[in-house]
Amino acid sequence: MVDIVELVSEVVPLKKAGANYKGLCPFHNEKTPSFVVSPQKQIFNCFGCGAKGDVIEFVKRYYSLSFPEAIEKLAKDNGIQIENPDSRSQGRKDELYEINRIAARFFYDSISKGENPGYSYLLKRGIEPATIKKFGIGYKDGQWDSLIKHFEEKGIKKEKLLEAGLVTLSKEKYFDKFRDRVMFPIINTGGKVVGFGGRVVDKGEPKYLNSPETPVFYKKNQIYGLNITRTDVGKAGFIILVEGYMDVIALYQKGIKNVGASLGTALTENQAKLIRRYVNEAVLSYDQDTAGIMAAVRGLPVLYKEGLKAKALILPEGKDPDDFIREKGKENFMELLKEAMPYPLYMLSIIEKDSDLTSLEGRLDFLKKAADFLRGLSEIEREGYLTGLSQKTGIAEGAIRREMEEGAEKTGLKPSILVKQERLQDIKDRSISSLEKTFIRLLITREDYLSKVMPYEEVFESYMGISIYEKIKEHITLEKVIDIKKLTDSFDEDQLMVVNDIRDNIVVAGREAQVLEECILTFEAERKSKREKAILEILDLLQESFDEDEDRSEREKALMEELMSIQKERSRRGGI
Ligand code: CTP
Ligand code: MN
Repeated sequence: MVDIVELVSEVVPLKKAGANYKGLCPFHNEKTPSFVVSPQKQIFNCFGCGAKGDVIEFVKRYYSLSFPEAIEKLAKDNGIQIENPDSRSQGRKDELYEINRIAARFFYDSISKGENPGYSYLLKRGIEPATIKKFGIGYKDGQWDSLIKHFEEKGIKKEKLLEAGLVTLSKEKYFDKFRDRVMFPIINTGGKVVGFGGRVVDKGEPKYLNSPETPVFYKKNQIYGLNITRTDVGKAGFIILVEGYMDVIALYQKGIKNVGASLGTALTENQAKLIRRYVNEAVLSYDQDTAGIMAAVRGLPVLYKEGLKAKALILPEGKDPDDFIREKGKENFMELLKEAMPYPLYMLSIIEKDSDLTSLEGRLDFLKKAADFLRGLSEIEREGYLTGLSQKTGIAEGAIRREMEEGAEKTGLKPSILVKQERLQDIKDRSISSLEKTFIRLLITREDYLSKVMPYEEVFESYMGISIYEKIKEHITLEKVIDIKKLTDSFDEDQLMVVNDIRDNIVVAGREAQVLEECILTFEAERKSKREKAILEILDLLQESFDEDEDRSEREKALMEELMSIQKERSRRGGI
């Protein structure tokens, strides 16, 4: 087996100190050595930053590798052959990696030789040649077969390119999938090209075209840019997570190098695990539109559950990190970074925005939602927010504590954004209610349904539902009519799958008005029953309030009356 002292001293100068060896810790900045290596126990231990572990752990951390990668490196460096139980599928994967590597080279060569639309476009966006080189950004010309030809010269067949997702097959003919696009290679932390994102030059749809999932590419396992930035991430002690390729590249170029992108999708558990390998803090920096806030509200708990300290950086509305840093510069971004909000505070601020703190009822409502959220945190964290909540709402701390300790099944009061977040813990990303689907079906039928649906847009409370609705709304507002080709191009893969399913399986032809009416009735009934639950809970809490400014008995009376009218109406409708 490899000796830990030998291994570490290759990269960290060590001095003998008693039975052990001592040196400057490679995992944090220090001037006096607190990094100790024990030859007896074959472990390292830093008393400064707490880093400790065995040979494998050291290789993992120092070279930023995964466990299997670390084993592989150790084996390789020491001339040990490891038997691969799955060498056939590994061979196939290696072939795909190689094809992707050749393609990336081809795209990069095209962009770096003289005038071409991709290069001009990147320059126009302020991307420097050195950055293009660093990220291996390329350009794929507008031809239908230049890539196919390039591979044919190397004796690689079209069928293989199809498997790699670089060509498409249509009517028994093969075509280059990417044409006239700026190509971002997606490279895993092992340095292998696993796929591509292709951005249209200037304007056009779809804006981004990505490699499909292949045996080597699962979008949900990748953090774009991490192959380059992981050392910076490790050094900084946290990662800034953004949505897009250009965000990573723009921040990196401006000297903010501890970045990575989740590639447009909401953050996944696997992505969080990948990050956890390098660092224990992540700052989400997403757009501040509804979809961006939703993505943050979904992403933060995913990070939190993997044991990461999670924060949200708030950008001015309508700006992504790329826009922001280009307009305002690095210093201003660093200022925002300093003010990034810890996950619980961010969530509480979102809940607060959703409530009206000027009325007693509003404060109780806020409290219920806040308690529901805090219940999911550790006890220590929870306690930290109690006093503030009590002051904000005028409810005794004891009552709040009780509220938090009660069961989580009362959901009537939660803002849709939190209800959704909880549902997502078990359900796949594509979950969407049938009511949402039917509303979407109507919306894509004719543009004038937008104004009819808008008063009920609260119905959209799933992430999928909201993001599809927003796209449709934007499309109709911009184009005035539905251009189904343009609209479908604006959806990402997941959204498109859902919309196609809706179009194929919900039939409304000829019955649109009737369907709309039914949907509205169902929506109203759901809204009433939620309100009913809410009132019951508020009445319950009202007992605990020490806020005497308002006429409490008046409020109670009004709530009782509202409750009775809801219940009466329900029995009139026959109990539904
Ligand atoms: N995305 C995608 N497919 C789309 C749209 C977006 O895969 N049709 C992903 C891309 O990874 C993209 C990210 O989502 O980088 C964010 O999308 P968006 O905010 O629309 O693009 P930007 O990154 O801002 O792109 P640009 O600045 O080039 O306009
Ligand atoms: Mn952008």
